[in-house]
Amino acid sequence: MSQAPKIKNICCLGAGYVGGPTMAIIADKCPHIQVNVVDIDHKKIESWNNADLSKLPVFEPGLEEVIKRCRGKNLKFSIKIQENIALADMIFISVNTPTKKKGIGAGEASDLKWIDSSSRLIAEHAKGHTIVVEKSTLPIKTAQTIKEILEGNEESNNTIIQNKKTFSILSNPEFLAEGSAIDDLVSPDRVLIGGEDQQAINSLIDIYLNWIERNKILTTNLWSSELSKLIANAFLAQRVSSINSVAALCEKTGANIKEVSLAIGTDKRIGSRFLNAGPGFGGSCFKKDILNLVYICNHYGLYDVASYWKKVIEINSWQSKRISELITRKLFGTITGKKIAILGFAFKANTNDTRESPAISICNDLLEEGAVLQIYDPKVDANQIENDLNLKESEKQKSNQKECTWSMQSSVYEASNGADAILILTEWEEFKNINWQEISNLMRSPCWLFDTRAIANKLDASSSGINVWSIGDGT
Ligand code: NAD
Ligand code: UGA
Repeated sequence: MSQAPKIKNICCLGAGYVGGPTMAIIADKCPHIQVNVVDIDHKKIESWNNADLSKLPVFEPGLEEVIKRCRGKNLKFSIKIQENIALADMIFISVNTPTKKKGIGAGEASDLKWIDSSSRLIAEHAKGHTIVVEKSTLPIKTAQTIKEILEGNEESNNTIIQNKKTFSILSNPEFLAEGSAIDDLVSPDRVLIGGEDQQAINSLIDIYLNWIERNKILTTNLWSSELSKLIANAFLAQRVSSINSVAALCEKTGANIKEVSLAIGTDKRIGSRFLNAGPGFGGSCFKKDILNLVYICNHYGLYDVASYWKKVIEINSWQSKRISELITRKLFGTITGKKIAILGFAFKANTNDTRESPAISICNDLLEEGAVLQIYDPKVDANQIENDLNLKESEKQKSNQKECTWSMQSSVYEASNGADAILILTEWEEFKNINWQEISNLMRSPCWLFDTRAIANKLDASSSGINVWSIGDGT
């Protein structure tokens, strides 16, 4: 389609949830391009290279097959960052951009130290002309910062020249959702490319054209592209907070959130997706991206706009809090020493990711009240939960520290054994088909099911003698 230089070698900085799957798909769809994914985390690279594909650091349906096809051919995972930067004619920056913990903007602004260090590595080791692509989610105007670091000289203008190295900077935010990353990458709703250098834009378009139709590739200026990513996440999160707030109203009034979601979602202007009430949105991005948006709005003096978006996060925290409180209330006002089965710890189904999972705050609240948690998740391991709860698993604790405890279980049945209540937090498929008669026989009576995803067969559970609370169900 274009006279743009053909890309032969790609390097991606960051082998995380975005870098790994995204580059695997590029390698799979573009066998003529060598794709090298590098990371400062040597253990992560080791896991990406593990012969046992079930040990990859990221669990995504369909990912293992793609890795099997490409790894060792045109897809490489490596710790040799400098070497691979030097080889590349296109470099994707897919590093983490979490909320700042300290300093200016702490608690709201994105921490750009990994972007800064990536840019410096590229400035130092790149050779010839290199297209640098922002894949990470970034505050608007970050491309300017990257440009200044690559230039190493704020005075020069359009062409960035340093020791005969030249750079073009593009924004190409990623819209994949975890759990459906492979499908999202193979058939995205759109690919967004922001930039000023048309040749560089065309080089990136050429890559995507290997599997995506041209009319799905949108091009904008750099700032629209950077901002659109934050706004897309803010709109999605806003839908979740909106539906969760309505779920609470349904519970008070006799309405049912599933019926309300169906009724409003059939209006094409509203749309039916992303209207599932739940324990609150989790994941590494919604909260941090909205906080970042709040910070940017305040920076530009748009205080009312900032507080509007902040409310989306406040409703989210309120939702998980109200769930842990209602569990205590329903269990006669005390859960001290009571066993609660926690079904699902990941922030959503089909991922092993627990970052910002509502399970963390809800489990912490229950532990605080003295509950004994029996946790089962098909993909999250005990070490991860130990880190998230900042509490060792009960068997590993000294007996005098056993005020509140949790243990990892390997099935729904094990988790439910002797339990006073079952709490469904993640919508894993297997939780939709639980045999409630068998489970109720294992539980201590009177027993409860708290279904924060409204996925369980409510009738089966209640006819098996289990009291049922299901989110948004006021009927
Ligand atoms: P992640 O934490 O899983 O991975 C980031 C990786 O970058 C880490 O392994 C880290 O060690 C590595 N890294 C940091 N500095 C580096 C450097 N200088 N050189 C090489 N590697 C370096 O994060 P993620 O979930 O993949 O997210 C990455 C970015 O993509 C974030 O900005 C995020 O907002 C955005 N994003 C994430 C998702 C998602 O679903 N997780 C979706 C779209 C966009
Ligand atoms: C989200 C966006 O959907 C992606 O487009 C974006 O690329 C990504 O963030 C990112 O920037 O990181 P992700 O967080 O992986 O993807 O997963 P989602 O499917 O969006 O779910 C986020 C949270 O909202 C989950 O906790 C999920 O359970 C919750 N949710 C989602 C609901 O409670 N109800 C819904 O109807 C949908």
